[in-house]
Amino acid sequence: MPSVYIETYGCQMNVADTELVLGHLAVHGYRRTAGPETADVILLNTCAIREHAEERVLGRLGELARYKRRRPDVRLGVTGCMAQHLRQRLRERAPYVDVLVGPDGYRRLPELLAAGGADPHVGLRLDPEETYADLPVAREGGVRAWVTVMRGCDRFCTFCIVPYVRGRERSLPGPVLVEQVRALAAAGVREVVFLGQTVNAYHDGAWDFAELVRRSAAVPGLRRIRFTSPHPAEMSERLIDAMAECPAVAPQLHLPVQSGSDRVLARMQRDYRAAEYEALVARLRARVPGIALSTDVIVGFPGEDEADFAATEALMRRVQYDSAFLFKYSPRAGTRAFGWGDPVPDEEKSRRLRHLVDLQEGISAEINRGLVGARVEVLVEGPARRPEGWMAGKSREMKTTVFPGPATPGDVVHVRVESATSHTLSGTVAAVG
Ligand code: SAH
Ligand code: SF4
Ligand code: F3S
Repeated sequence: MPSVYIETYGCQMNVADTELVLGHLAVHGYRRTAGPETADVILLNTCAIREHAEERVLGRLGELARYKRRRPDVRLGVTGCMAQHLRQRLRERAPYVDVLVGPDGYRRLPELLAAGGADPHVGLRLDPEETYADLPVAREGGVRAWVTVMRGCDRFCTFCIVPYVRGRERSLPGPVLVEQVRALAAAGVREVVFLGQTVNAYHDGAWDFAELVRRSAAVPGLRRIRFTSPHPAEMSERLIDAMAECPAVAPQLHLPVQSGSDRVLARMQRDYRAAEYEALVARLRARVPGIALSTDVIVGFPGEDEADFAATEALMRRVQYDSAFLFKYSPRAGTRAFGWGDPVPDEEKSRRLRHLVDLQEGISAEINRGLVGARVEVLVEGPARRPEGWMAGKSREMKTTVFPGPATPGDVVHVRVESATSHTLSGTVAAVG
């Protein structure tokens, strides 16, 4: 049996794609191996979202090339978004790569890996019909499962490479997805996370995303359901109602805002103003009490001046996110904003980034300290990194929570919070189940 080793970069959708690739390859006789040393096939499943992500992969490819020099019959492949984005440059920078396959080409991967010859074999055609709905997924196991419900993105935010590398939006059939959720719950999975780049744009022709969430939340045995990432302009009242009314839907939402300045939001083509976004936050908080919110922010977008940046800072202070992912703008060839250059100097981007990181650390710590004395419901995942003998899991609000064991992964325990940092709650078990 040939063996395959795969490294995954980028977002959760890529992690899910790795499980899909492994499931598909398993049917074709490949078994997974934990390291590159003895692997017959080495794959890097890559990301193109920022330049840094691509630089890391190019460096890593250089390292992995040595396995190919030692064992020339090793097949080295680059899959995913960066394969799609950098096809030409990859051929120049890493001519020893055997296979280049984009996000819509995984079906052909076994065939391309089996083909001989020195030239790279490519599967880079974007296919607006491809959903892989019929392919088996080799899931990692554990209490949580990630389920891709839609692929691609039609929104074309001016900074973003995703629509170019993942192609047009398409949704998997709702009944197929509910069946998957049912099978996962029956196999012991307690929490399902629906994935899509604009997950709430899901529509299979009959069901919208609210319908899919309602039907899935009703699956017996499933304790929690989440989804990521919703686009703020696609948050329908029907979806908010489903979140408010289905007990299995966790009170947590990652709602990327990108900027607090209307001028920047317009140039990003985000399709909402800051005030509309904040009104949405207010509706969510009214309908789903205690909902935890997180976000993504880009600093140093072309044309972002001090006033724009101050507007982002002010929005973050007003919204009080539980956590935030903060990024320096990185120009991506092929996007609209690429034509506007990169006028904000890197030092200035770093300064803005540090400022928001510090601000958010303080907000996260304060929110979490406010939970001391409260009880949180924790789905146990496994041993905590420390202290020894402690267990860890996530609260319904998706906060990492640690407590003294014993407990079994999959258990639900109620933890009384005794202390908190900006990232972790810790406490003791007050009740089980
Ligand atoms: N589909 C999601 C975002 C996916 S990409 C959404 O629309 O919300 C994840 C995050 O990466 C984005 O939210 C954005 O904050 C960041 N990002 C995307 N392109 C970027 C770029 N060119 N430079 C810096 N950050 C970027
Ligand atoms: Fe990129 Fe915008 Fe699509 Fe998100 S919605 S993936 S940021 S284009
Ligand atoms: Fe990266 Fe592709 Fe995800 S570009 S962020 S791996 S969709």
